Amino acid sequence: MPLKQLKIEHIRNLEQVNLSPLSRINILYGDNGSGKTSVLEAIHFLGLTRSFRSGQFRHLVQEGCDRSLVFAQADPLANGQSKPLGVERHLEGDVRARYAGASLGPADLAELLPIQVINSDTFDLLDGSPGTRRQFLDWGAFHADATFIQYWRGFKRALKQRNSLLKCGKIDPRIRRVWDAEFVHYAEQMTSLRQAYIDQLRPEFEAVLSALLQGVEVRLLFSPGWDQSKGLEPLLEAGFERDLRQGFTSLGPQRADLRFKVGTLNAADRLSRGQKKLVVSAFRLAQGALFHRLSNRACIYLIDDLPSELDERHCRQFCEFLQASANQCFITCVDPGYLSRIWDPETDVALFRVESGTLTHMGAPGDQI
Ligand SMILES: Nc1ncnc2c1ncn2[C@@H]1O[C@H](COP(=O)(O)OP(=O)(O)OP(=O)(O)O)[C@@H](O)[C@H]1O
Ligand SMILES: [Mg+2]
Repeated sequence: MPLKQLKIEHIRNLEQVNLSPLSRINILYGDNGSGKTSVLEAIHFLGLTRSFRSGQFRHLVQEGCDRSLVFAQADPLANGQSKPLGVERHLEGDVRARYAGASLGPADLAELLPIQVINSDTFDLLDGSPGTRRQFLDWGAFHADATFIQYWRGFKRALKQRNSLLKCGKIDPRIRRVWDAEFVHYAEQMTSLRQAYIDQLRPEFEAVLSALLQGVEVRLLFSPGWDQSKGLEPLLEAGFERDLRQGFTSLGPQRADLRFKVGTLNAADRLSRGQKKLVVSAFRLAQGALFHRLSNRACIYLIDDLPSELDERHCRQFCEFLQASANQCFITCVDPGYLSRIWDPETDVALFRVESGTLTHMGAPGDQI
C-alpha cells in the first residue's frame, strides 16, 4: 500500500493534521464542511501538486497562510521500503517535491504516485467534453508506457507550431511539409499507444462493470481523431485550405475521443444518474486494475461521498470490488452507517472521524461495536 502516514499542513480548514496509521481502506466521515474532501485534496496535492477541485492554488491554501505542505511516509514502488515524500507549494508559485531526499519534477511525481479520483466531476467522463475524456485516456497511456510522455510532448509542440503557422496565413510549402511530417510522426506514435491502452483496458472495464452493474451493457470505443483508413498525411494535405481559413488543425490526436455506447445510443443520453456513476467508476477502477496488472503497483483512490447516488446494494458491490483490489482507498461519507460494517474482518480498514478540520483515528470498524 503506497501511503503509510500522512501529515497535512494548511490545506483549506486543515491547519495541521496527522493521519496515522493509514490502512488500505480508509473511511473518513463527518458533517458537512468538516474537512473530508479537503483531506482528499491534500492527497491529490501530494501526487500532482494541485487540487482536483479548483484550478487555482490560492483556493487550496488555508486562509491567512502562504503555503501548503503535505508529507508522507510512502512505499509507492511497492518494494517494502517506506521513504519520505513531501510536496510544498507557496502562494508565489514556488513548488518543491522531494522523494527519499531527491527533488522530483511534476511528471516524475505523477509517475511515482498514481492517483484516481471518483467524485461528482467524474461524471464528465460521460457528460463532459472530449478534452476531459482525453485526460482520462492519457492518464492510462502515460502510466502504461514510459515512452508515451515523449510522444505526447513532441505532438503538443508540433501542433502548436503548425497552428501558429496557420494563423500567420502564409506558409512556405517546404516548411509546411517539414512540420507536417513531424506532426504525423508524433500523432501516429501517440495514437498507437492510446489505442493499445484502450485495447488492454476494454476487458478490464467490462469485467469491473459486470461486477458493479448488472443488466446494462456498455461498449467502450476509441476514436483516434481522424479516419485511419485514409491516413493522416493525405488528410492534412486535403484539409489544408480549410485549416488555413480556420487558423487551426482540424484533424489529429487533439480530436481523439472515447465513446461509451449502450446499444446505438450514447451512455450519457441513456443511463440514470446512479448507473452513470457506476460506469464512470468502473472505468476508473479498471484503469487501476490494469495499472496493477502491468506494474504490480497499487493506485490510490480518492472516492468522495461514495454512497451518493447509489443504493445500498450497489454501494456494497462497489466496496466488495475495492476490497478485492490492491488499491489504497480514501473514502468519504457523512454517516459511515453500513459502510463501516460491510468489510470482511481480514480487510485492513480504518475509520477516521473528521470534525472542524481535526481528524481522530477511530480504529477498525469492529472496534466500534
Ligand atoms: N482556503 C480555505 N481556508 C480555510 N477554510 C476553507 C478554505 N476553503 C474552504 N474552507 C472551508 O473548509 C471546510 C471544509 O471543506 P470540505 O469541502 O473539506 O468539507 P467536507 O467535509 O467535504 O463537507 P461536505 O460533506 O459538505 O462535502 C469548509 O467549512 C470550507 O468552508
Ligand atoms: Mg466534501
